[in-house]
Amino acid sequence: MQNLIQAAADHIQSASRILALTGAGVSKESGVPTFRDVLEGMWAEYDPAELATPEGFRANPGLVWNWYQQRRAMSHTAAPNPGHYALAALERRETPFLLVTQNVDDLHERAGSTEVVHLHGTLAGNRCFDDCQGHPTRIRLFDTPEPGNGPPHCPHCGAWVRPDVVWFGEALPDDAMAEAYVWAVQCDVMLVVGTSGMVVPAALLPGHAKANGATIIEINPDSTPISDIADIRLAGPSGEMLPMLLEALQ
Ligand code: OAD
Repeated sequence: MQNLIQAAADHIQSASRILALTGAGVSKESGVPTFRDVLEGMWAEYDPAELATPEGFRANPGLVWNWYQQRRAMSHTAAPNPGHYALAALERRETPFLLVTQNVDDLHERAGSTEVVHLHGTLAGNRCFDDCQGHPTRIRLFDTPEPGNGPPHCPHCGAWVRPDVVWFGEALPDDAMAEAYVWAVQCDVMLVVGTSGMVVPAALLPGHAKANGATIIEINPDSTPISDIADIRLAGPSGEMLPMLLEALQ
């Protein structure tokens, strides 16, 4: 493993532009469950069609809102882990570095990352379900909604308020995806951390990077479809692998 870490560190050392793509696995050591772990993943316990689609929200807004309120509470009590801190430290080096995450928590920011692109939105924000003032119509809630009361109403049109996250069947925010794509084709090292590589278009970014000559370094205890194109695989938890990588750079 030490040889692989050193090889990864050597690529990072000589890179002129580094992109990191993270997924739920990077927050697992903070106690936030992933989606697709067979036993503990959220999609093992809950139905994504009910909880993470516009149709599911329309059918049962209270259920969906309360589930996101629980996830907000969970991510609020979670603390960044050494993997988040190591990524923040990589950003502070001189080499231009962008962090693109599929995660809707704010653990990267709380660890000190400042250049973070959220491809799937964030738990911190809310929107009008009808986007009545244009897409997106962000709504700032001044009162903390009572637990169990279901979603509040849009102050402009009275429609339900929904979390500002991307659901299945919805487009990713244009600006976030455009920035991620430009970095993917221009970076010379791409770190792919804690993602199953099952959800497009995020899962296509490593392929774009590879096709444009980047070295792909995957950090994940399990293999994924991205493993096939990875130049280096650090098969272990990101909370251990990323600090080791950082140490090898110093
Ligand atoms: P997944 O749950 O699909 O995958 C999590 C990945 O993290 C798996 O490949 C695990 O092997 C890996 N993993 C587990 N523990 C780890 C650790 N300690 N360190 C590093 N990796 C670890 O999560 P995502 O790939 O993020 O979308 O899922 C992508 C999207 O699917 C999510 O953003 C969400 C979900 O449905 C929406 O809600 C739109």
